[in-house]
Parts: sequence; structure tokens; C-alpha cells
Amino acid sequence: MYGREVEKVLIPKEEIESIVKNLGKQISKDFAGEELIVVCILKGSCIFFSDLVREINLDVRLDFMTISSYGNGTSSSREVKIVKDLSEDIKGKNVLVVEDIIDSGRTIKRLKELLAEREPKCLKIVSMLDKPERREVEVDGDYCGKQIPDEFVIGYGLDYAQNYRNFKDICVLAPAVYQK
Ligand code: PRP
Repeated sequence: MYGREVEKVLIPKEEIESIVKNLGKQISKDFAGEELIVVCILKGSCIFFSDLVREINLDVRLDFMTISSYGNGTSSSREVKIVKDLSEDIKGKNVLVVEDIIDSGRTIKRLKELLAEREPKCLKIVSMLDKPERREVEVDGDYCGKQIPDEFVIGYGLDYAQNYRNFKDICVLAPAVYQK
């Protein structure tokens, strides 16, 4: 189904669907009776976000943020900056940040600090994927779809050099692609 860029399918779309349904159920239960602002962190989480919000049975408002990491290439020196900010004020609101993956943890750690300064009522993180082996800072999501080993994954919003985000399955990128 895929070309030589895919080494193997890691999480097929049927499994993704079931993970997303379960996350939606859990989140709907935890915030029952409350309003929720659901924040998509562009671009990686756009597909997961679109599926997840439709599994959340609450009054939701959707908002979007673009984050960029600058630095000299090594992830420990990266600075996380807001490129596109939220359009809504989150003070006193329940906020759920949607990420595709937590890797080193630096993006989500900094994002939590930045958003906490705005005094939301509650700030939670949901990540489709988690690579605990890669963690450089102490941070965890509140909801996690699936922990995965340290492999380069693409599809379901995740890219390599901006490609492959539209694959329906989460796949492992063939090493030949990035060893070129
Ligand atoms: C990816 C991903 C997370 C971040 C995780 O974003 O979407 O935001 O990296 O990595 P970390 O835990 O090591 O900080 P990326 O900068 O690749 O942008 P994208 O969402 O546009 O793909």
C-alpha cells in the first residue's frame, strides 16, 4: 500500500480509531458538565485533533497554535517560541492541549509554562504518541494514546521533511530515506 519510504506500519488505522475513541470517552467523563477549549498544536496534531474533538461529548471550542523550535540543531539548546497564538483568552477556562507526540518533552514543558501564566482553570495535555525513551526533561501528558519505541514515525499528521502527514496509519520511516 505504501512505497519504499515505509519500513512497516506501526499503528494501523483501526487501532488509531479505537485509541482515539477511548481518549474521547475518558476526556468526556473527566470534564462532564464543563466547557472545554481544545487546542490544536499545528501542524503535527491536526489530524489527531480533528478526530479527537468528534469523540468528545462536551461543549467544546476549538483553537489553534503554531509553535517553533529554534536553536543550533541540538534539541537541548532549542528555544520554543509561539509563531501563531491562540485567538481566545483562556483565563478561568478548561484547556486541553492536543499534541501528536511527546519526544524530548521540551515543547510541551515550555508550552505548559507559557499557558499556565494565563491562569486557565485547568490545563491538561493529550498526546497521541509518547516516546518515553527520548525524554530530556521531566514532563508527561495527562492522556496518552500509545507509548512507542524510539523509531522515526510518520503518518496521521506526523512528517518527515513535511511529507507523509496524510498517511492513514502511523508508520515507521525507512532508514534509507533519512540516511540519504
Ligand atoms: C513535533 C511535535 C511536537 C514536538 C515534540 O513538532 O508535533 O510538537 O515536535 O517534540 P519534543 O517533545 O522533542 O519537543 P515539530 O516541531 O516537528 O512541528 P510539526 O508539529 O509542524 O510537525
